[in-house]
Amino acid sequence: LYRKTTPTTLPSFLLIGPSGAGKTAFLTLTERKAVAQTHTSTAPLAVEVLLPEGHTPQSSHYRSPGDPAYERSRRFQLHDTPGHGKLRHFATTQLANPTSVRGIIFVVDAASVAEEAGLNETAEYLHDVLLALQKRYTGATSSKGPKEIPVLVAANKMDLFTALPPHLVAQQLEKAISEVRKSRAKGLKDSGPALGGEDDSLDEEREWLGEGGEGSFEFAQMEEVGTTVTVQGGNVIGGDGVDVTSWYEWIAAQL
Ligand code: GTP
Ligand code: MG
Repeated sequence: LYRKTTPTTLPSFLLIGPSGAGKTAFLTLTERKAVAQTHTSTAPLAVEVLLPEGHTPQSSHYRSPGDPAYERSRRFQLHDTPGHGKLRHFATTQLANPTSVRGIIFVVDAASVAEEAGLNETAEYLHDVLLALQKRYTGATSSKGPKEIPVLVAANKMDLFTALPPHLVAQQLEKAISEVRKSRAKGLKDSGPALGGEDDSLDEEREWLGEGGEGSFEFAQMEEVGTTVTVQGGNVIGGDGVDVTSWYEWIAAQL
């Protein structure tokens, strides 16, 4: 018997979300432990980082700090993607082949989703990300079934007084995603060929996010397709200090 040297593919987390939400700011904070000025991203960026002190990786709960396995388990990669509408192919490419992806961090500007335009843009993007995960799950051919990929909706900019609290961010997004779902289904119907057969209804089913029927979309419906959606508030920058504890806790729970 011989032992193969296992390639060290670190668990990775994808940062996705609309432009200006704070993805690069969070990556920079995690990498340098200090906030820095960011500019809108035009290319993806991957960095190797350590889970900050004070958070314990799920897999290391029974290990003590200093144990090499403990230290190893704190390492992960953050993959930043540009949020601009024309640059989202970087994110969708990563989503299409999420081999080492342990989770997706969908960053939201909680002040921007208090307004209709920001809410709709965010909901459309999140809808598409969740639909991609659903298709990956339902289209999987392996008998073991695909790996579960959890999603953290990181409701950022809680320092702004116009920011919606996390539970309202969740509610508003669910409502807006219900609308996106409806209008996408209508778009499919309208663009379909006049002599529609079985294929059409199959297509419609595949493109429908979450449960069918008349009800509205709820994040909990994603459990069916191996995705747990969690919404947590935080702020990467802010007058009263940075607070991203709940996001690191979520990351720790996936490590
Ligand atoms: P793209 O690269 O265009 O996709 O955007 P992004 O999601 O990477 O946004 P980025 O991290 O560059 O942040 C956008 C702006 O929001 C920057 O000016 C940040 O300083 C600011 N910002 C980020 N996080 C916070 C926060 O928690 N509170 C406040 N008030 N501003 C923040
Ligand atoms: Mg950026």
